[in-house]
Amino acid sequence: MTTPSFEASPTTDTATKVTALRTADDSGLVATPLPEPRLSWSLTGDRPGVLQHAYEVQVAADRSFTGAVSSGEVESGAVTDHPWPAGPLGSREVRHWRVRVRTDVGWTQWSQPARVEAALLDAGDWTARPVHVPSDRGRTSPGPVPLLRREFDLPAEPVSARLYVTSLGVHRTGVNGRPVSGELLEPGWTSYPNRLLYATYDVTGLLSPGRNALSAAVGDGWYRGHLTWHKNRDVYGDTSALLAQLEVTLADGGTVTVVTDDRWRGGYGGLLAADLYDGCARDLRQEPHGWRLPGFDDRDWERAAVLPLPAGLTQRAHPPVRVVQVIRPELSTLPDGTIAVDAGENVTGVLRLRADGPAGGTVTVRHAEVLDDDGRLLTGILRGARATDEYTLSGGTAELEPEFTFHGFRHAEIDASPGVTVEHVEVAVMAGDLRRIGEFHCSDDRVNALYANVVRSQRGNFLAVPTDCPQRDERLGWTGDIMAFAPTACATFDSRSFLDSWLTDLGIEQRPDGAVPLVIPDVDLGELPPMDLPFAGTTAGWGDAATVVPTALFDAYGHRSLLGRHYATMRAWVDFTAGRLDDDGTWSGNAQLGDWLDPAAPPEDPARATTDSAYVATAFVAHSARLLADAARELGRSDDAERYAELHRRTAEAAWRKWGGHARTTQTGCALALEFGIAPAAERAAVGESLAALVRANDGRIATGFLGTPFVLPALSGSGHTAEAYRLLLNTECPGWLYQVERGATTMWERWDAIRPDGTIDTEKAGTMLSFNHYAYGAVAAWLYGSVAGLRATSPGYRTIEIAPRPGSALTSASASIATPYGTVSVAWSVRGDTLTVDAELPPGTTGRFLPPEGLHSAQPVTGLGSGRHRLVLRG
Ligand code: BGC
Repeated sequence: MTTPSFEASPTTDTATKVTALRTADDSGLVATPLPEPRLSWSLTGDRPGVLQHAYEVQVAADRSFTGAVSSGEVESGAVTDHPWPAGPLGSREVRHWRVRVRTDVGWTQWSQPARVEAALLDAGDWTARPVHVPSDRGRTSPGPVPLLRREFDLPAEPVSARLYVTSLGVHRTGVNGRPVSGELLEPGWTSYPNRLLYATYDVTGLLSPGRNALSAAVGDGWYRGHLTWHKNRDVYGDTSALLAQLEVTLADGGTVTVVTDDRWRGGYGGLLAADLYDGCARDLRQEPHGWRLPGFDDRDWERAAVLPLPAGLTQRAHPPVRVVQVIRPELSTLPDGTIAVDAGENVTGVLRLRADGPAGGTVTVRHAEVLDDDGRLLTGILRGARATDEYTLSGGTAELEPEFTFHGFRHAEIDASPGVTVEHVEVAVMAGDLRRIGEFHCSDDRVNALYANVVRSQRGNFLAVPTDCPQRDERLGWTGDIMAFAPTACATFDSRSFLDSWLTDLGIEQRPDGAVPLVIPDVDLGELPPMDLPFAGTTAGWGDAATVVPTALFDAYGHRSLLGRHYATMRAWVDFTAGRLDDDGTWSGNAQLGDWLDPAAPPEDPARATTDSAYVATAFVAHSARLLADAARELGRSDDAERYAELHRRTAEAAWRKWGGHARTTQTGCALALEFGIAPAAERAAVGESLAALVRANDGRIATGFLGTPFVLPALSGSGHTAEAYRLLLNTECPGWLYQVERGATTMWERWDAIRPDGTIDTEKAGTMLSFNHYAYGAVAAWLYGSVAGLRATSPGYRTIEIAPRPGSALTSASASIATPYGTVSVAWSVRGDTLTVDAELPPGTTGRFLPPEGLHSAQPVTGLGSGRHRLVLRG
């Protein structure tokens, strides 16, 4: 027994601070849709070896924290996804929260408080109704973009103002002539009939006492514009409408609410058409001057008509689309006077230009990813997407920028009519504005270029939803593509809330029998020639996005509540596939997309891959069953954990029984056998040998399609064949990753040989399915982070980390860093002579272990690494 001391005071950890308080809402908006926000934070400080043992969260009505509700002391080492300890927020309610943690030393100080404000949480909060311009209803082709406006008076100085706004279609809303945000293509694309996102803006600074004007243009967007290669229109509705509710508190204590209703006026302006695929047409002569300002005469405009309140109104909780970069392109003049634009890299976005000329003068901008043999735009591969912006000038100098569209391009051609000069051109790169968290670098610049291409392809395709490509008449949320790419995506940009939103739609649109549509949001794809697709478009590898994407999010960010929310979807998909198994336990009975686009598949029939698609399908059933079992274990559902582990075991056995021989004859066959636990333990070494032998026999060229590619390098390095893994990575012959780089790729290609070894582009043979911006093969970057640099999470959210660099081939150094929920983890290694030096830094709250490369060095693993910097020097 110890004698109590009068000196005793609670021990404190003054060196560690609790920072970066955040909820699961990444929208950047002033309010949150989450009535009980999940809470996360980070720890900072220089003291090495910091561990969190417990935390306490307080929630209060104001920053004095008097009368705060406390979580009490909660034992936990995790810094993410903690429950809200107080009662749920009501609509518009503001609360403050703060947190302190007990580390291995003692309690920290309280963090700085963070503010949360609830958005409109209930349909009953909306007095606004969607409004539209009556004459715009039922328009069947791209046509003039409807404009809506309303003026109102504020009798006193506004002290606080919130604008809740969304649309059927995509909107740009302004207050007194100023845009309410730089957000583009709002409200993005969701399963509109079930879930329509709105945004909440603080517009206090845009209002003034006296007369004010609210205004919006509403483009067709995904709601009403062209979708799919059938160029269907009006997929969700035939009327563009705005829903807005402005709530103002005045200095004198009064309030003013302005909502969309039949007091709004509607008309048209210079935007004659705007379509996501086709581009936009603007006639500046028809621009109604000052229509966004108070005082505009809208007497000849129509009185707006009112629609019922849409279902599923929820505030967006993920980052919006914005201009994320501006590029000054290279310009040249072609013999016919056309201005050729080269952005230097393949991007998603629009061209902004300044032109000067007479009224009626025109400027036309067309876009393409690549040039043909004559140096002109190769537009055939855009298929039905016109990707053309047209302007008619009103006389004088004008800044020209398209609205409500985006293009996938590196090249553009600008044609101006006589007398019109183009004075300035820039490329505005558009993307979902996700936070960049991952970096990779190594001593081989070709690999660095490959990595940069992966990053560009993610950025260019994380636009509203994770798309296959940004340029042709698709730009759809193809499930198989993100299935392949999710782990890379999650390490490169903070993709949690973006993919969480998409998964919510996947869950909504999953069929009652558990089948997952090929694209989410689910739009009718009609015939998919030449394949006869199964189950209204469900296929293995694509539907498995339902299990793979939530798993990737959980592994990267550690939010157990997210896994819990998508669990029913995961299970329904696995049950669906289990229900398709034949008596012999394999999924053999249906057409499949299979190892799509494997380089040996006939160009016009990408599903006819070398690896038997029934084997691939069965392997994916086993894979998803295992991921589901793991999720069930995490969520404490032990019955499910057992049941699906058993499904995995049975299905793996069945696959091996039927295809054990075949699997060993292809790279994808071996990779799936190893990575999905198909090969029995006793056979794993031999399968690894077979895979390595296949790679050698193919001179290091890759032979996998969409479904095999993510797994082939991990399968090689995981079975001790790092040398062959590097051969595949570094091979420059067609097909291969660096082949693309050496052919000048700046984004990942859809086909390994999009440009053939002789430099030509085979558009005909490929049936014009030839995109230069498809991220699926970019799945390679997960291996760059995890194996080349050697930075891996060994528990969800990187609470425990493995540093396991795998130097190989001629690489002399590599480094990676990832801004994890705990803070930034970094690893850098270099080889000099026979000495390997590894520098690693772990953030507070994490622990790590170091696994030395096999074979090269005889060093032992080092366990128990704490936060802080570490250097390990190994001599061979
Ligand atoms: C898309 C894909 C997709 C595939 C499946 C293509 O047209 O661009 O990336 O996964 O179809 O059929």
